[in-house]
Amino acid sequence: MSVNQNKAIKICDTTLRDGHQSLMATRLKIEDMIPLLEAMDEVGFYSVECWGGATFDACLRYLNEDPWERLRVFRKYFKNTKLQMLLRGQNLLGYRPYPDDVIELFIKKMVDNGMDIIRVFDALNDLRNLETSIRAAKAEGAHVQGSVVYTISPVHVPEMYAKLAKELVEMGSDSICVKDMGGIISPTAAYNIVKSIKEVVDVPVELHTHYTSGMAGAALLKAAEAGVDIVDTALSPLAMGTSQPATETLVAMLKETPYDTGLDVSKMYPISAELRKNLRNYNIKYDVVGGVDANVLTYQVPGGMMSNFAEQLGPNIDRLPEVLEEVPRVRADLGYPPLVTPSSQMVGSQAVFNVLSGGRYKMVTNEVKAYLAGQYGKAPGPIDEEFRKSLIGDTPVLQHRFADDLEPGLPQARKEIGYLMESDEDLLSYVAFPQVAEKFLKDRMAGKTRTDYNIAEENEEDGKKGVYPVQ
Ligand code: CO
Repeated sequence: MSVNQNKAIKICDTTLRDGHQSLMATRLKIEDMIPLLEAMDEVGFYSVECWGGATFDACLRYLNEDPWERLRVFRKYFKNTKLQMLLRGQNLLGYRPYPDDVIELFIKKMVDNGMDIIRVFDALNDLRNLETSIRAAKAEGAHVQGSVVYTISPVHVPEMYAKLAKELVEMGSDSICVKDMGGIISPTAAYNIVKSIKEVVDVPVELHTHYTSGMAGAALLKAAEAGVDIVDTALSPLAMGTSQPATETLVAMLKETPYDTGLDVSKMYPISAELRKNLRNYNIKYDVVGGVDANVLTYQVPGGMMSNFAEQLGPNIDRLPEVLEEVPRVRADLGYPPLVTPSSQMVGSQAVFNVLSGGRYKMVTNEVKAYLAGQYGKAPGPIDEEFRKSLIGDTPVLQHRFADDLEPGLPQARKEIGYLMESDEDLLSYVAFPQVAEKFLKDRMAGKTRTDYNIAEENEEDGKKGVYPVQ
């Protein structure tokens, strides 16, 4: 629609969120980030993605760190650069739909504490699940970026993405993200989708992809040719593999093209050097998360899911090939949900059960049952009614938004955690991750949380257990 006079590509640097989420299970501590922040603010990034469900969870669960305080630290250091985050729509920062009152207060507090850009997505592209978060974010004056979640399936036709993008703008989105969490978008698909979206909306379009399949660098270049406005990259020490393409590479690649970012790559070298030094304190499993994973092209299984399989299978790891072949079958049975949190966990766990329990759907997870009952929203494709019935019997299938049936969540939570909370932020941490936050708040009361960021003790349990979100 609009003619892009200035073709300069803007960069959202994801080092502080998706970079360490993808390569090191979101374990980067704030004290290893702080030495980078002033210099990062001087680079001229359009935004830094620095907050989201997994970072919030990992702060409380593994790092003994208050995620809200982390946000305030970012705000303090980033004086010129917008702060950006990822929100799972009605699932907020978690794995299930929350009542609207929780969404509204959460978004208010995120903006109060300094968030500028809120990227919202729904795993099923069911836009009803984005209504409340978009409305609330607009009401708080945030920039709302609506996402279309990219996947490959017989029901995900190219025209669908432009239609979704148009609806997202009508709902109030200030920009659009094409979100390829699996890193499977080909350069041609990236070109076609960005172009078709640019034809029907006149807000900026951003491409988020992962290097997993090895195509991301080429995909970003083709997206630039199609008129993309912003791309997501991560500083080189936390780039490539299951993370984003490297920021330095992208900046150098676009030099002397009409898409020149105008950024000075030499400003990034010292930041990356410092980060690389800080990463020596961590055990990054490059054999799992680095390089190119061709499995993703065959099975669409993104990096985060592979880590989960390794854990879930444990001693049965030799059955991984069977599980990988089962994933697309489960996905087809469920009407082709994109593999992103929470459907990636749902499909992955069910595939593991189908392989290990001696028969398909002999054991069915509660999440799959809830999904078949419409509690996560509308499945992208058709689901065989016989199949549905065999798993959930006569349970009625919701036709409306599940959150419409939920009682407000804050009053009860306030009752439960009132004895420990000092602020609404504490209350929200509790609503998002009850047991984990309660323990954190107790530790804080006992003076055992890390607030001065000088504590160098290592938590040896880090990184061994848990679910890895896929975004
Ligand atoms: Co991502």
